[in-house]
Amino acid sequence: MHSSLNELYQKLWEQYTQTSPEIQLIHDSIVNKGNTIVNDHIAFRTFNHKNLGIKNIAAPFIKYGYKEVGQYNFENKKLSAVHFETNNACDPKVFISELQLEKCSEFLTKTVNSLVDQITDEQVKAPQFCYSGPLWEPLTYSTYAQLYEESEYAAWLSAFGFCANHFTVLINELKEFSDNNDLNTFLKSKGFKINSSGGEVKGTKKDFLEQSSTMAKMTPVKFRDQIKNVPSVYYEFAKRYPLKDGSLFQGFVASSADKIFESTNKS
Ligand code: NI
Repeated sequence: MHSSLNELYQKLWEQYTQTSPEIQLIHDSIVNKGNTIVNDHIAFRTFNHKNLGIKNIAAPFIKYGYKEVGQYNFENKKLSAVHFETNNACDPKVFISELQLEKCSEFLTKTVNSLVDQITDEQVKAPQFCYSGPLWEPLTYSTYAQLYEESEYAAWLSAFGFCANHFTVLINELKEFSDNNDLNTFLKSKGFKINSSGGEVKGTKKDFLEQSSTMAKMTPVKFRDQIKNVPSVYYEFAKRYPLKDGSLFQGFVASSADKIFESTNKS
């Protein structure tokens, strides 16, 4: 368990890099070029189920001074999201999305409810809830695949549960890379796959935010009946631009985030 915000981030990072060891390799290859990494934000996924929703994932962060500052909606993916920040510009932002179950099929809601029903109140209230992984018996692979057909997001959450879906490198703080294109070129030369849905760089200087990400690595997951490789977690990169008053834009751009969600699609 964690006893400070730093330790909470440490726990999340350990779980994240254990899920996909490729993340540590990406991190290290950026650092080995002479950069120091600062996190822009960390993202989580959940269901809008009454026992789970965004507020439950946010609870430990709120304890450390995080406040809700922005709300976003992703119509096609049936998602809504909230972003949280502290007053300290050095703390990463926290971006939490949730699937709107009332908009999903009966099959999906029944399947999700069968998972959620296995979670106790105690588990949700525990300080480590946001990094507790899947708190349910695994689904069969065919149920996962059927979920994937309807909602990649629901399938991913059923397999990986509660954990950081991605960390995000703030490019502004990198010494050796000036923008997303520059960093993407380097990562591709190292053999890492970049998400190209909607173009490799999402957003423009006019939006005050440019984002890109790797494609989630296929990782073995133990389903009820077999072990299968499925997309796990990915790494994101963000460059922020100054507003008229000179301060860096701190929000998110929904149309860009919409494409970033697809980093956990099967490529
Ligand atoms: Ni993100």
